[in-house]
Amino acid sequence: MKYRQLGRTGTKVSELCLGAMTFGRETSENDSFQIMDRFLDAGGNFIDTADVYTQGASETIVGKWLSRQNRDDIVLATKVRFPMGEGANDVGTSRKHIMAGIKASLRRLGTDYIDLYQVHAWDPLTPLEETLSTLNDLVRQGLVRYVGASNFKGWQLQKALDLSHANGWERFVCLQPQYNLLCRATEWELLEICAQEGVGVIPWSPLRGGWLSGKFHRGMEGPPSGSRVEKAEQEGWGESWSAYNNEHTWDVLDALHAVADETGKEPAQVAINWLLQNPAVTAPIIGVRTMQQLESNLGAAGWNLSQEQMQRLNQASSMPVTYPYDQAAINQRARR
Ligand SMILES: NC(=O)c1ccc[n+]([C@@H]2O[C@H](COP(=O)([O-])OP(=O)(O)OC[C@H]3O[C@@H](n4cnc5c(N)ncnc54)[C@H](OP(=O)(O)O)[C@@H]3O)[C@@H](O)[C@H]2O)c1
Repeated sequence: MKYRQLGRTGTKVSELCLGAMTFGRETSENDSFQIMDRFLDAGGNFIDTADVYTQGASETIVGKWLSRQNRDDIVLATKVRFPMGEGANDVGTSRKHIMAGIKASLRRLGTDYIDLYQVHAWDPLTPLEETLSTLNDLVRQGLVRYVGASNFKGWQLQKALDLSHANGWERFVCLQPQYNLLCRATEWELLEICAQEGVGVIPWSPLRGGWLSGKFHRGMEGPPSGSRVEKAEQEGWGESWSAYNNEHTWDVLDALHAVADETGKEPAQVAINWLLQNPAVTAPIIGVRTMQQLESNLGAAGWNLSQEQMQRLNQASSMPVTYPYDQAAINQRARR
């Protein structure tokens, strides 16, 4: 496993981050422990969770496991923003909720600091100054090493970076967006801002919840029984069958499977390798339900797709680019 700088910081993270969203949900505590042990053995040091994952159960499992490790060897990321109770202030990025959220996360994780504390999504009700100054205080108090954002739009990220800069506050060092072969719109603005600003990128759902894992093929009539995608339909999650059963998805999967056959790699490994090769990406966050899936996904690193294979995947997965993102065409006309 190689290591990469987390944005412009001096901290090094493994090129694959392990997501803990399945822990305590589809994956038992014991299996989660074994998955984290194996990830560490393979050289991984970067683990991502959130307070809201199964209402604290994921953090609790990670915390129990962490108590048996050398804490400083791990770069631990968690998040705050989504509801953690029924109360009016159990949600959002107000000073009140962030202060309560960090206290509860530290308790569940059994640690006295978080390496990367992320705002899980934009909060339209809280002034950004309130959120950013509170996050700055957490770093000053030694409870948090770095702060990050997730699911922000371009203008929201840029505004936050500029406000932090103007006030001398700790800035977001990395962004956690959805980014995968079925979600390329992330490139239009977000990746450009991150590259310009030196903000790291840790893509979530590199396999789009399983769609890019190899178990979906053109001609299928529904998701495999027991899969995340099947569950997504009832739970209202984004990776549902009805959201992705369309011609664009099947075209992307045709290309992915053709490249996988050619390289002798599994489709999941090809899909994650495609992300690893993007210089804007710091570390895809791999999500697994079983040890077998972890073994497979670890094999995404340590080799490279050829330029021609990258191009074919790029072509098959490209999405129609509309104004104002079709700048290349505009610039061409402007030069005439
Ligand atoms: N910031 C956010 O809003 C946000 C949102 C989502 C996730 N995340 C983070 O990103 C992490 C990863 O997200 P994700 O779980 O959606 O990632 P993903 O890699 O897109 O999907 C993971 C799912 O795909 C299936 N899978 C994975 N590897 C496989 C393999 N080798 N072969 C067959 N199936 C495989 C499993 O589902 P089955 O049950 O079908 O086997 C697994 O649970 C999360 O743990 C979390 O840390 C963040």
